[in-house]
Amino acid sequence: MMEFVLPDKAHDESRQGEALMLEQNDKNNGRKLYIESYGCAMNFSDSEIVASILMDKGFETTSDYRNADVVFINTCSIRENAEQRVRNRLREFGIAKVKNPGMVVGVLGCMAERLKSKFLEEEKLVDVVVGPDAYRDLPNLIDQVDDGQRAVNVLLSREETYADINPVRLNSNGINAFVSIMRGCDNMCSFCVVPFTRGRERSRDPQSIVKECTDLFNAGYREVTLLGQNVDSYKWSPSQTLPEGKGLNEESLPSGEVGGAFVNFAQLLEMVALIHPDLRIRFSTSHPKDITDEVLYTMKKHDNICKYIHLPVQSGNSRVLELMNRTYDREWYMNRVDAINRIMPECAISTDIIAGFCTETEEEHADTLSMMDYVKYDYAYMFMYSERPGTLAAKRYADDIPEAVKNRRLQEIVAKQREYSHYRLQGHVGKVHRVLIEGFSKKSDKDYCGRNDQNAMMVFPVDERFKPGQYVNVFAESCTTATLLGKIV
Ligand code: 5AD
Ligand code: SF4
Repeated sequence: MMEFVLPDKAHDESRQGEALMLEQNDKNNGRKLYIESYGCAMNFSDSEIVASILMDKGFETTSDYRNADVVFINTCSIRENAEQRVRNRLREFGIAKVKNPGMVVGVLGCMAERLKSKFLEEEKLVDVVVGPDAYRDLPNLIDQVDDGQRAVNVLLSREETYADINPVRLNSNGINAFVSIMRGCDNMCSFCVVPFTRGRERSRDPQSIVKECTDLFNAGYREVTLLGQNVDSYKWSPSQTLPEGKGLNEESLPSGEVGGAFVNFAQLLEMVALIHPDLRIRFSTSHPKDITDEVLYTMKKHDNICKYIHLPVQSGNSRVLELMNRTYDREWYMNRVDAINRIMPECAISTDIIAGFCTETEEEHADTLSMMDYVKYDYAYMFMYSERPGTLAAKRYADDIPEAVKNRRLQEIVAKQREYSHYRLQGHVGKVHRVLIEGFSKKSDKDYCGRNDQNAMMVFPVDERFKPGQYVNVFAESCTTATLLGKIV
């Protein structure tokens, strides 16, 4: 499962609600589109695909939903509070629609997929509901709404990867971009709605990925984050084809892979790394059951693959992991962490943790805390368990940990993580880091910001010789709770 804040922290909710816009026109003659995205990096990336599809049909964009002809909200369903936020936002769109009755309001993505036509019953102002595999149908669906109907397409696909669609970069700094390498998930973690909202796992043609990344590099981008719910199960067979019949051919396979072999994630990473040494590569999310030493050695081999792995543990206790259907246990996870530390001692590791999963005891919670002591994560996304309708856990287990207990366990996890985040940042102090300048710091245009290889944010005084999009060596002098402070050397 994937999560970031700008490239890396896919489920950072601080990014939720960020408005995404674009511009163009033709047959729709300047109709204005507004898209707002919630949730994971994959949702943000999907909004760029939606934008591309509609710009091809002549839509323009606007940053103000009150002036828009079409207002889309690309939703997240992963936790209940994410859905509540979407409903609140729809109320605000409803007020704008009173003044502008021709406005088309659409719900896209995971929550659309989960609720399907029920959404139209529950939210009277919603005109169109579209699941994540049906975006090519959006122009037709908008036509139907223009003809006075309400429209739904929530069909999931086994093939759709939007491989041939060149995403429009929304709200981009021109330096970092998300590139989706696969869709869906076959893992069935018992707490998770994603297999139901995003459908079966399928990998995208590696040539289309390499082409998209090459085009980004040529357009000045310097960092791509390869996205998938479980990138380690990326697998492409040369017999697979793009929708229009353009598949991977033997000449285009990496050397040594000719003759019907699969392309796995390690090989894909290498193909992207070889585009240019100045193109940095990140990826998310890694699944502890699938991450191989081959991936780790590929990371080690290429300086431009960032030494950072998002490796969600969810729980540190083997019984709870089994109930979660994560298909690894505590020892297996520790073994993978040991492999990372052995092969790339400098590699940063982040995680996702769920507090208070069904039947979790105090001792089992203590195992999660001790796992945190073992790994000393650089960063963590921490959640209280919330039951999601339709999931295996909702069907099989009682959500029996009282809210107050879940909350207290979460606070213990958060407090511990705060210490380790600080510990890891302090480990970077006194060293020189290669940083890609991403722009000016949020607080001052006298400072630049950018991340080091391990994904730690650094802030340092502007030096006129260097511009955003360039790499600089920065000496870390000190750190705050979340940021390294330094100067270019
Ligand atoms: N309750 C709490 N957290 C959840 N996550 C996914 N589903 C749930 C749920 N029902 C968390 C997991 C996952 C991250 C994206 O969200 O930690 O890795
Ligand atoms: Fe991630 Fe598991 Fe959900 Fe798949 S089912 S998206 S691996 S948490």
